[in-house]
Amino acid sequence: MADPLASVVGVLSSSSKYRDLAPEALERTARWAIERHSRPAEALKAAKRKLHQAFGAYLDPGSLRALERRLDALDTGADIVETCRAVLRLHRSSAERLDRLDAFYAAIWAQTGFPAHILDVAAGFNGFALPFMGLPPSTRYRAVEANRRVAEATGRLLKRLGRPGESLWADVLGGIESGGADLALALKTLPCLDRQDDGASLALLRRLADVPQVVVTYPARSLGGREKGMRETYRSHVEALAARIGRDLALVPFEDELIAVLRRAET
Ligand SMILES: C[S@@+](CC[C@H](N)C(=O)[O-])C[C@H]1O[C@@H](n2cnc3c(N)ncnc32)[C@H](O)[C@@H]1O
Repeated sequence: MADPLASVVGVLSSSSKYRDLAPEALERTARWAIERHSRPAEALKAAKRKLHQAFGAYLDPGSLRALERRLDALDTGADIVETCRAVLRLHRSSAERLDRLDAFYAAIWAQTGFPAHILDVAAGFNGFALPFMGLPPSTRYRAVEANRRVAEATGRLLKRLGRPGESLWADVLGGIESGGADLALALKTLPCLDRQDDGASLALLRRLADVPQVVVTYPARSLGGREKGMRETYRSHVEALAARIGRDLALVPFEDELIAVLRRAET
């Protein structure tokens, strides 16, 4: 009889919707589904549902094609700042902060100072915000993202910008290394990670124990635009996380997104 794990992973990795996701993420999700459903068809359905919540809801295949077209246009002389702006519009998370991007990063750096080396966890299209971050040219930027096409696009952009750094295609729940970063960004990402695996955000923050400052943000509104007391809910979430990992917590005033800086006690 076929190995159920191998057969669910096989279907997922040959589906056009999920084949670009990091193999560790597909296997982790398939394992989760098989533990809960004895019938392979049910396990496959549950795995697809979970992957859709974590990945499919933010990006559609049309956006990925548009992203690649924009990068190709850069090679034939398109304006880099305009390209980045257009790309940020393609991903729901980055589109939401596009109008106030400079103010968003200015508010963060006012709290943290300029980092020398950023680790951007589950970065999405956030690398395309680099031209608007107001950082010194020497600041290193390392992105980790589960979608191969997004990760590759960020890598192409870094080369174009001449920004030191790299873009890794990986599952951040699979054992990410801080790599000497002095600041990590986990923007609108922790709730998404907790939906993939209970307690994932706490585990991630524990793995980033050697990073002096971790900036986490939460959406202030749902994808449908409603407020529903989200700010209060997420504020309690981040306060609880800070207490569990023994970090100081500073909230950064910003209207559209709840921004919190988790600072190692001695920094
Ligand atoms: C909510 S979006 C946040 C994007 C970005 N941080 C921002 O705020 O602009 C979630 C992003 O995280 C990525 N992602 C989700 N789970 C991941 C995982 N386990 N490992 C790596 N990337 C992940 C998704 O592909 C998606 O691009």
